[in-house]
Amino acid sequence: MKLDFTQIQPSIPYILEGIGVTLKVVAVSAIIGFVLGIVLALFKIGRVKVLTILADIYTSIFRGTPLILQLMIIYFGMPQIVGFKIDAYVAAVIAFGLNSAAYISEIIRAGIGAVDKGQKEAAMALGISYGRMMWSIILPQAFKNILPALMNELISLTKESAVVTVIGIADIMRRSYLVGGDTYAYFEPLLFAGLIYYVMVMILTILGKLVERGLKSSD
Ligand code: ARG
Repeated sequence: MKLDFTQIQPSIPYILEGIGVTLKVVAVSAIIGFVLGIVLALFKIGRVKVLTILADIYTSIFRGTPLILQLMIIYFGMPQIVGFKIDAYVAAVIAFGLNSAAYISEIIRAGIGAVDKGQKEAAMALGISYGRMMWSIILPQAFKNILPALMNELISLTKESAVVTVIGIADIMRRSYLVGGDTYAYFEPLLFAGLIYYVMVMILTILGKLVERGLKSSD
C-alpha cells in the first residue's frame, strides 16, 4: 500500500473550487424542490381530485425511478424532444429540483396532516380564507415539525449532487476523479472529496440544529 497525499497537493485548490459548483447546484435545486414541493403537497391535500391524482402520479414517477436516470433523460434525452441542447447546469437543477419536490411534497403533506385540526376549525370559525389560513396558520406550524425531515432532504440532495459528474459538471466529485486520472492515484483525491462532503453535511446538521433551537425558543 502506498499513500502519497503530497501528490495531490497542487490539485487541492482545483478540487476545492468544486465546492462552489456543488453548492450552486444544491441551493438552486433545493429552492425549486421546496417551492414545487409545497404546491404538490397542497394539491395532495386539496379537494380538487384531478390535482390530487396528478400530484400522486408525479411523486410516484420521480420517486420510482433512479435520480441518475432522470438526470440523463433531461440532459441527453430531452434535446431530441425540444430540439436544442440543454446546458448541463440547467439540466442538473431541473432534475434535482423535480426529484426533490417529490420527496419534499410528501414531507410537507405529512407535516400539514400533523397540525391539530382544531387550528383549521378555529380559522374557519373566524372566517379566515383558506389561502390565508394555510399560509399564516397551518404551514408555519407544519414547517416547525418537519424541519428535521427537510434537513434530511437537504443532506440527501448535497450528497446526491455528486451524480452530476455523469453529465460533465465539474463539481467536487468530478474534480477529484479527474485529479485521480491525472496522477494515476485515485484514493487520495477521492478521500479528500469524501472529507469535503462530510464537512458540508456536518455544517448543514449544525445549522439545522440551530434553526430548530431558534424555532423552539420562539414557542
Ligand atoms: N439514489 C436515490 C435515487 O436514485 C436518491 C434520490 C434522491 N433522494 C432524495 N431524497 N432526494 O433515486
